[in-house]
Amino acid sequence: MRLDQYLASATALSRKDAKKAVSTGRVTVEGDICRQANRQVEATQAIYLDGHAIALPGDVYLMMHKPAGVLSATRDSSQPTALDLLPGELAGQVHIAGRLDKDTTGLLLLTSDGQWSHTVTSPRRECRKSYRVWLAEAIPEEACRALEQGVMLNGESTATRPAEVHVQSSQVIDLTIREGRYHQVKRMLAAVGNRVERLHRFRIGPIVLDDSLAPGSFRALTSEEIHSISG
Ligand code: URA
Repeated sequence: MRLDQYLASATALSRKDAKKAVSTGRVTVEGDICRQANRQVEATQAIYLDGHAIALPGDVYLMMHKPAGVLSATRDSSQPTALDLLPGELAGQVHIAGRLDKDTTGLLLLTSDGQWSHTVTSPRRECRKSYRVWLAEAIPEEACRALEQGVMLNGESTATRPAEVHVQSSQVIDLTIREGRYHQVKRMLAAVGNRVERLHRFRIGPIVLDDSLAPGSFRALTSEEIHSISG
């Protein structure tokens, strides 16, 4: 769809005023001012008018680089949450698809599409999540094999499902899991006698955290990314 048409559909502007808003530099697409009213845009792109995100009626899909110290919760009166990092009009539309602990950094998906987030989070869908894990102690080979095969978490009666481990260095591994139990990565490492010092999620299913996103920033998912999570 043309940018001026998009603006006219998503705001109260007439097509003529939408064209003028574009030519006078009030509109950004993916962070850059765009003065071409005939530019083709998609609903999944980040389009702003006077610094406010605007969206067509329809679902919203975002990735955020969650910083440490921010809760993955909708709202909390005393502590900052991931939704506080979004402009108000977007924050009101989305929920978080797969939480992270307060001290964990990295990829957070936010959407208004409940079916889509169910596909990301439902244990039955086995959507993979990959984490870089910094450890307090060097990790022996046997511990990596145990994590791959499944370990018993404290207080639970079934072992974790098979995971993938890629050793980066003696105290750093990449771990891919297919479940989302409570504090799962930290508890898996505790089960093999180690301790997580820092945790960063870099992938959910095929969606990889964009390197260019600084902690605390977000962008719209591309339609390819949205459709890579199949329902
Ligand atoms: N596992 C954890 O222990 N913490 C997270 O934030 C995510 C996965």
